[in-house]
Parts: sequence; structure tokens; C-alpha cells
Amino acid sequence: MNAISPFPDDFLWGASTAAYQIEGAAEADGRGPSIWDTFSATPGRTFEGHTGAVACDHYHRWREDFQIAADLGLKAYRMSVSWARLQPRGRGDLNPAAVAFYREQLADLRAKGIRSAVTLYHWDLPQVLEDEGGWPERATAEAFADYAARTAAALGDLVDEWIPINEAWCAAFLGYHVGVHAPGRQDRTAALRAAHHLNVGHGLAVAAIRNAVPGAKVGSAVIMTDVEPASDSATDREAARLADGGGNRLFLDPLFKGSYPEDMLRHFAPTGAFDAVRPGDMETIAAPLDFVGVNHYHRFVIEADPSDEHLKGRALPPSGPVTSFDWEIRPDSLRRVLERLSADYTDLPVYITESGASFDDAVGADGTVDDADRVDYLDGYMKAAGRAIEKGVNLRGYFVWSLLDNFEWAEGYAKRFGLVRVDYETQRRTLKRSAEWYRDVIATGGESLSWN
Ligand code: FCB
Repeated sequence: MNAISPFPDDFLWGASTAAYQIEGAAEADGRGPSIWDTFSATPGRTFEGHTGAVACDHYHRWREDFQIAADLGLKAYRMSVSWARLQPRGRGDLNPAAVAFYREQLADLRAKGIRSAVTLYHWDLPQVLEDEGGWPERATAEAFADYAARTAAALGDLVDEWIPINEAWCAAFLGYHVGVHAPGRQDRTAALRAAHHLNVGHGLAVAAIRNAVPGAKVGSAVIMTDVEPASDSATDREAARLADGGGNRLFLDPLFKGSYPEDMLRHFAPTGAFDAVRPGDMETIAAPLDFVGVNHYHRFVIEADPSDEHLKGRALPPSGPVTSFDWEIRPDSLRRVLERLSADYTDLPVYITESGASFDDAVGADGTVDDADRVDYLDGYMKAAGRAIEKGVNLRGYFVWSLLDNFEWAEGYAKRFGLVRVDYETQRRTLKRSAEWYRDVIATGGESLSWN
């Protein structure tokens, strides 16, 4: 324990990235197409048609990026491995070039004393599996288990923390219901089935990893949203309950309680989607974990909206300060979701596996970026994380999203979340002020945050 800072000495100060958002090299060394290659190459799907074909060219520049991570003093780095690179056809033997690539990366992190947290699925489903039906089909969860088993066997000696799936909610609902993410389908029943199969895929992967790597540490990366009713009226409260159910409880309950929330099963009963649940699934999903990872970005204030077919509500526009994504800046929501996780679900060690903000960074004449808004954002959210620790939350780490500016999905390169600026013309990396600031936070164990 430090003098002012509530963060323990072994707190994992980290940063996160994801394969499709940074690697580029979409056709290198036998990589196969993923749903994000297809989606982003489809006119009208992403901002100005941006794709991850080149991205930050991290595939070729990762040594420089990892040196930056080391220079910042990162204790941990969360990355994802690309399913389409490791299994270009979605099944079968791993691509040796991809295994060699990730082994080199992981060995370098270890040599630098940086712990690795590896996500197996950060949304880049091999296109061939989507062609067979994608996540709405159970076969995709089974293929995922096979991929997890092979990848764990191939990389397990070098990985410190495993995370099977990133934000099942986004993969299911943004991908199959809203359709703003790959594969861009708009079918609610398919999305609900996808949600179940992503949950099953998580559970199957936990077992596969443990089987391949005795003693492996396995967790999650669940997106948690802070949900509040717009008023005290019964209808707003009911709408907020459904929003919380569809966004948070549909994923947290199966992980930690081994069941879907009764109210949500009732609400979704007319879709028949949960007929996909087979005997034994809930036990599979609830396989014991070693830690829980939480990604947090949002509070939603929910007002009843009977015309909304999905959850009978809608989120009010944010009233206070926002990021360039129009996402509300409200650090106390992070504290609230962390306390709720502890109160309602688990006393496992918790990592914030993603937290960060996009701003329209201005580049100075000398190439520097004085991103005071990002510094303020992170300062506020890190102090809120500290307050959660003081309230008894077993928080062990904080991974900033993101180490680098990168391909922000449907928003392409228009939204910048990095501690490090990437000039996409030259691929030049420049530490923003937030990176320098974070280096001090890490070096002082959080004492340099603006506690007063
Ligand atoms: C999360 C994603 C991550 C990034 C951030 C801004 O939902 O997991 O890849 O896009 O949002």
C-alpha cells in the first residue's frame, strides 16, 4: 500500500489492444479472411470505407510498439491473437507462421518483464465460419473450443492470463442485431442465439485451456454498463431493468450464477432463441474462473419506449461532458459497476480489461500531442477505480484502452483512443502527453494521480 494511493504494490498497470485493430498484414503468411475483412470491404459499412488491411502495421512493427510499452513501464499488456491468422480455414492445424509470430511476441513481452493477457476472440471470426452460419450456430462455439485448445497448447507456456472472448454482448448484438459491426446482420433472434453460443464458446474454451495448460489463469472480458432509470416511474424503472438485463445480466448471470435471468428468459420467450440452450450448457458456461475482466465505457440513463421492440426503452442523450464518440464522461460509473460486480456476482480478483477515451487529438507543429482531455479522463477513472478498492473491490489491474491509436471498427481511423499517436501515412509513433503522464502514474503506483 502506498502513502496516498489505494493501489496495491503489485497492481497490474497495463494497456490493451486487439489483433484486427492494429496488426494489418491481412494477407501475410497465410492469414485467412475474417468477418471484419469482409465487412469493412463492403461499401457503406465503415467510416469512409476504412479497413484493417494495414492498420498500425503492428505485424511488422511490433518490436517498436513493445519497446514503447516497456518504456512506459507497463506491468501487463493485453493483446488478442487472430483466429483467422492461426486457423485460416477456421478449423484444423494451426498456421505455423502465425504460431511463430505470436510466440516471438509473447517471448519478447516476457523478456521485458511485461505480463501477457491474451484474448482468443476479439471479434475476428474466420469468414468461412460465418459462411456456415456464424455464432447463431452451435458449430461455431465448437470450432472455437477446438481453436482454443490448439492455441493454448501452442502458446500456453508463454501466456500469463487467458481471456477467451472479448465483450460477448458487442459480438452478438452489434454484429447480429444492430448490424453496425461485422457480420452486419439485423436479426434479433440470431443475435440472442449468438449470445448463447458465445457464452458456451467461453465455457468450452475455459475447459480447453485448462486441459491444455495445467495451472492456466483464465478469466473474462465482459462489458459492463452502468444503467439508471430516467425517472422513478414504474415504466422507466422497468425499462432500465430490461436494459440492464439485456446488456449486463444476460452475460454475468450465466458466468457466475449458472443460469440466465428469469425475467430475460420471459422477455425473450417469443423469439424461441433460448431453445438453443442444451442440457449441460449452463454448467459449461459457469466453469470456475481465476479472475474477472471488466471493460467499461458507458452509463445509460434509460427511459421507457414502448415502440422499442427489443428492450422497450431508449438511452437519453448524455447531458454532461462527452468524448469524441459522444460517450459520457462519468468516472463514478466505473466505481459503481465494480462495486456491483462484487456485491452481486463474485469476489474473484478483478481487472479492468479496458477503459479509455477517444478525443480529437490536435497535433502540434513539432508533432507532439498535448491530450489534456485524455489525461483528465484517465485521472478521473483511475481515481474512481481506487475508490472501488477502498470500498473493498478486489481490483488487481487496469488496462488502458488503448496503447496505440487504431482501427476503431465501424468508425475506422476517425476515433483515436491511443496513449501513443499513430500517423497512418508514415506509421510514425509519437507518445502523447497521456503516455508520459501514465508512465508517472505507473512509476509512483498511482500516487501521482490528482488525489486532492
Ligand atoms: C470496446 C472494444 C475495443 C474498442 C473499444 C473502444 O468495446 O472491445 O475493441 O473498440 O470498445
